[in-house]
Amino acid sequence: MARWVGRRQRAEGTTMRLHSTAEILQIYQQKGRQLYGGEAVSQLEHALQCATFAEAADQPTAMIVSCLLHDIGHLLIEPFQLLEPFQYPFADGIASDHDTHADCASAVLRELFSPAVTEPIRLHVEAKRYLCAVEPGYWQSLSAASQQSLEHQGGIFGLEAAQAFIAQPYAAEAVQLRRWDDSAKVVGLPTADLSHFAPMLMACASGSALESG
Ligand SMILES: [Fe+2]
Repeated sequence: MARWVGRRQRAEGTTMRLHSTAEILQIYQQKGRQLYGGEAVSQLEHALQCATFAEAADQPTAMIVSCLLHDIGHLLIEPFQLLEPFQYPFADGIASDHDTHADCASAVLRELFSPAVTEPIRLHVEAKRYLCAVEPGYWQSLSAASQQSLEHQGGIFGLEAAQAFIAQPYAAEAVQLRRWDDSAKVVGLPTADLSHFAPMLMACASGSALESG
């Protein structure tokens, strides 16, 4: 068992859950200053830029929230910074050498949000593998850190896997999220702050979650 086991809040036996939008906002307020992987922006800056791009494109609220929260998995995995590069935990606490932050995030958010929010998040890493397979020049357009992490995310899809991926519900939304994700690494880019997006989180959260939040 990895060292983080026992430090995470768990529900339903194996997986942590978030029960209110207030908890989510608190996570970004407390941990959002962490750097976003090998990039020059923080996790919070990256999240706000991604959500701002979606809002500027007149996307539905669920998509904006999905963009805002797509990398919350990195913040939920508290000892992430202490691990060797590209050593990630699964949501159930078992160590992995694969990047599982998308699976962690979607599992943790499932109690609060509909699939329109959680599924693009779950699929956004695979969307990179897909775009590398089908779009000439896409891999070259990625940042050095994103090119490097691809290897630990399973590498470029083959043709069959790419076709199976894009046939899934919410795969198109995940591809769109991915494009904003790739662009949301601009140092000093002005965006709205977290409080601007808080009402959108509330609007997308389930009724039971609002009551407990
Ligand atoms: Fe991201």
